[in-house]
Amino acid sequence: MRPDREQEQHAAPAAAADSAAKATTTADAATSLIDQIDFERLPRHIAIIMDGNGRWARQRHLPRIAGHRAGIAAVREVLETSARLGIEVLTLYAFSRENWSRPASEVNALMRLLREYVDGELTTLCEKNIRFRTIGRISDLPAPVVEGLARAERATAGNTGMTFLIALSYSGRSEIVDAAVEIAQRVRRGQLDPEAIDEDLVSSTLNTAGLPDPDLLIRSSGERRISNFLLWQIAYAELFITPVLWPDFRRQHLLEAIVDFQARERRFGGVRNADRRSRGAAKRHLLSS
Ligand code: FPP
Repeated sequence: MRPDREQEQHAAPAAAADSAAKATTTADAATSLIDQIDFERLPRHIAIIMDGNGRWARQRHLPRIAGHRAGIAAVREVLETSARLGIEVLTLYAFSRENWSRPASEVNALMRLLREYVDGELTTLCEKNIRFRTIGRISDLPAPVVEGLARAERATAGNTGMTFLIALSYSGRSEIVDAAVEIAQRVRRGQLDPEAIDEDLVSSTLNTAGLPDPDLLIRSSGERRISNFLLWQIAYAELFITPVLWPDFRRQHLLEAIVDFQARERRFGGVRNADRRSRGAAKRHLLSS
């Protein structure tokens, strides 16, 4: 036997043992995180900027599309975990309007991947009672992709579990502009009094009408940017940025984000409860002097 083959033969059981040990550690980490989660205070809507596919591929000397392909495993795991937890809405940012400027080969490969994913996942979505929807300028996408997306939307329209949104050819600014145009047209047609324009009306004119705003926005790969994602809707979202590249993102990372979210005090522009008490004490102190 060639010495390198011999080495490989010894290395194979070692590698298998190593990966089994890693899987046990990961499962232990997930179990410990699940114990920390308060199921009464889950975020209703989690939105994710999936970033780092290109870097993941570059680290392995692979083409960028290999990173996008590997990212599908992360999508599956996040979808399944969110549905099991009972999250109401999961939104994934898969393709921005700005992404059209990428090389045609990458864009075409991404479109193919998307179509494969949606067609291949339809049975699972139905089995898990997940409702699938899209946001963004879907008509910009190639016709077979548009048809596949519409098929999945129709087939899952009656599902009553989690809503799964994929943002495609999406831009938060364009979405707000589109809403402004629609509102202006309703005013011009005499259907809407300008005095009646308020935040609820704007919200109900966006792609996400009827859905709760994201409570938790996760971004992978360590970048600290919003990248034109759900600009109106994330006004009060808690941000969680992880250095993990998207293809490596797994159940434990989602659970980590939820545990971190639950450790924060959401004030929505108000004050901490403790401060409210001490301000009350200060007021009483002033009145009594
Ligand atoms: C950003 O990483 C990722 C994208 C533009 C595409 C995300 C797509 C997938 C995960 C696969 C398809 C998705 C679904 C929902 C089926 P990047 O390429 O900008 O990474 P980089 O910043 O490291 O270059």
